[in-house]
Amino acid sequence: MGINYFSYRNRRCLGRGIGKNVIMLNQLQTIQIECKKAIENCQSLVDVEKKRVEFLGRKGKLSALLKQIVNLSDDQKKEIGQKSNQIKKELEGCLNNKVAELESSSINEKLKNEWIDITQPSLCSQEIGHSHPLTQVQKAVEDIFVSMGFMVLDGPELESEYYNFEALNIPSWHPARDAQDTFYIKQKSKKDTNKFLLRTHTSPMQVRAMRKYGAPLRSIAPGRVFRNEATDACHDHTFYQVEGLMIDENISIANLIAVMKTLLKEIFEKDIDVRLRPGYFPFVEPGFEVDLSCVFCDGKGCKICGNTGWIEFSGAGMVHPNVLKAGGIDPEKYSGFAFGFGTTRLVMMKYGIDDIRLLLNGDLRFLKQF
Ligand code: DAH
Repeated sequence: MGINYFSYRNRRCLGRGIGKNVIMLNQLQTIQIECKKAIENCQSLVDVEKKRVEFLGRKGKLSALLKQIVNLSDDQKKEIGQKSNQIKKELEGCLNNKVAELESSSINEKLKNEWIDITQPSLCSQEIGHSHPLTQVQKAVEDIFVSMGFMVLDGPELESEYYNFEALNIPSWHPARDAQDTFYIKQKSKKDTNKFLLRTHTSPMQVRAMRKYGAPLRSIAPGRVFRNEATDACHDHTFYQVEGLMIDENISIANLIAVMKTLLKEIFEKDIDVRLRPGYFPFVEPGFEVDLSCVFCDGKGCKICGNTGWIEFSGAGMVHPNVLKAGGIDPEKYSGFAFGFGTTRLVMMKYGIDDIRLLLNGDLRFLKQF
């Protein structure tokens, strides 16, 4: 329906010679009422924009009406100008309110449609992680030793030079230190004689365990160790070891072999032969390298064991009297064996992994296989 700017009342006024300003005022009010109604009926933001153009646009109804202002006196111009500004402002406010109303109702609509119950357990199948192969094997090793009456101890990765070397019969001048270079921590001051380093092996737990628990003693200490090594398929700067210690009266190498065989049988789920070769470690006397019969060819000889039928597995030996003394244990009364092997190496042997770097690089394609 079009706008009848000349209402009945106006026509009467005109007839009586009422001023043009009054007519314009009436017309302004008509626009005001009609525009408000139109805004109210808007269903969408597009509708609102159309009404903004239709009423307040440059070619809209208000502008069209104001073109007649030229026919008014200065005072009337002022009056009509003020009134039309006021109405324009009011209508703009109405348009903006409608926009806000439509927007918020569309958000509410969205919220209603996209509502989710965040407390509901997921309907999609969730991927459940699992322990790292190193952790799995370490746990298995712990269980086996616990079944043989060993305690499982945890030691510091940031270790003192004393426990890592000196207490193990490796004084500062000893060439054995060269084989185990590591990362040293800056001392607070030069006067500070207590040097700290990232432990190169789990062996420092021998003296720590002796001092804490005394003899007799059966303990293992699994954990992470560090070396200043160039990395390749067989070497890494960070790897895992298990240290073992058994101290009592009349402990012999036969006990060591029995413990090793029990461990390997459980881990590889078959009988494994071990052999001892002389090996030098300053903290044991005598010291050995413990080899196991190759798990890949059952000792027949293959590429992995270099056709020897044997694979190097662990260092071991009878605890040196100096180390027993450092641990506060009487070497005249007690003896014991110690051993240390790489959990990392054991995992590699168990699963036939040929590159040590795969174990710590976090590649899920590798890890998902365990
Ligand atoms: N700590 C030695 C290493 O990391 C391994 C070792 C050798 C541990 C002989 C021992 C041992 O307890 O008796 O190379």
